[in-house]
Amino acid sequence: MSERGTNSITKAAEEHHAELWAELTARVYAVIGAVARGADPEPSRGELLDYLTREVVPHLRTEERMVYNLARGAGERGLVAAMEVDHRALLRQVESIKKAATPLEAAMAARAFLVLFALRMEKEEKVLLPVLAEQGLDVRELIEGRPEIVGTPSPG
Ligand SMILES: [Fe+2]
Repeated sequence: MSERGTNSITKAAEEHHAELWAELTARVYAVIGAVARGADPEPSRGELLDYLTREVVPHLRTEERMVYNLARGAGERGLVAAMEVDHRALLRQVESIKKAATPLEAAMAARAFLVLFALRMEKEEKVLLPVLAEQGLDVRELIEGRPEIVGTPSPG
């Protein structure tokens, strides 16, 4: 595979991350803002959970299934084990947002999810994908056409 091909696909993955990050940040801060104002956080918590379920969790699960398996097969077991700790922590935080008994708990869990997501995203972009590319693995072939990882191309 050409280096250009790898670069463009990792760029697509990064752009999709940036989009998820922007949407997620807006929704997390809507929950925090409502709690800070003493307003009802339920509508924004519902929107956050809906976005997590529709977009973010499928992204995390697809990557875990596909990219982590590729890395494990390439002998990167330690790196994958470390990323899986983050993966499980992220899924636990989704449960914490769902089950939060008070608005403050919901806001804290939402913020914790956001911070963990930022770390996970950076590890993928700065460590995992470059390691796979260095090993000559065809990341492009693996993640191309997976809208959960690279987003949906805009028409035209
Ligand atoms: Fe990702």
